[in-house]
Amino acid sequence: MNPDFVIIAVDGGAASGKSSTSRLVAERLNLMHVDTGSHYRAVTFALIQAGVSPEDEAAVAAQLRGLPLDTQLDGRSARISLDGKVPSDDELRSDAVNAAVSPYAAVPAVRQFLFNFQRSQADVARQNNFAGLIMEGRDIGSVIFPDATLRIFLEADAATRAERRAAEGQSDSIEQRDKIDSSRKTAPLTCPEGAIKIDNSGMTLEEVVDAISNLVGTSTAGSTKN
Ligand code: CDP
Ligand code: CDP
Repeated sequence: MNPDFVIIAVDGGAASGKSSTSRLVAERLNLMHVDTGSHYRAVTFALIQAGVSPEDEAAVAAQLRGLPLDTQLDGRSARISLDGKVPSDDELRSDAVNAAVSPYAAVPAVRQFLFNFQRSQADVARQNNFAGLIMEGRDIGSVIFPDATLRIFLEADAATRAERRAAEGQSDSIEQRDKIDSSRKTAPLTCPEGAIKIDNSGMTLEEVVDAISNLVGTSTAGSTKN
């Protein structure tokens, strides 16, 4: 592995600040940004449209088998396309998808379907000459890139997270999703051993970005030349 190519894994509960922080770190360090929540949302959207229940794993697996995945770059953000189409933010963040995404994400066939695609995003970043990859989700540091240069677990207290979502005007039961995500059998939301916890309840985005950038500097200090 090229030591100059940085992989940062960012995990945390809903509205803990993963996307906004990761986007800014990507800008500062010239990284490609991947929001794996959008992958689960896209698959959920497709499965709802196909009328397949998360309780029928065989039907879920059969439906996904015929669904080609690809990546489309939008600036520094790598977006998922399903069958050649990038779902819109409105489609991904609808109330129906908010309510159904955690039950679908708990289905092992769904996680298996996305595993290789998510690992392959490092190659997409290399091919497009980024200095590295920042990937955010629930199991990035534990399952997808346990070998990442740096693994961050973002936390924020419940009141702060609820306020943040309310400020965005979204109807989203974040506590309910966290509960399902933390208690599922496959790849539950948890802070993996060795990851660095950052509680950003009282921090500005700028302060969190500074903290992560400094940690990247420390993690790569041993591999810099001269
Ligand atoms: O934006 P927010 O943090 O609220 O959610 P998201 O990152 O868009 O993720 C939506 C849902 O996808 C989560 O509640 C999880 O059920 C699932 N997810 C997952 O299981 N594993 C990931 N690596 C990312 C998301
Ligand atoms: O991706 P995730 O659901 O973990 O959270 P997000 O969408 O990045 O953050 C939810 C909201 O909290 C956004 O509107 C951010 O601007 C805000 N936020 C903040 O005010 N201060 C932080 N340190 C982190 C996020």
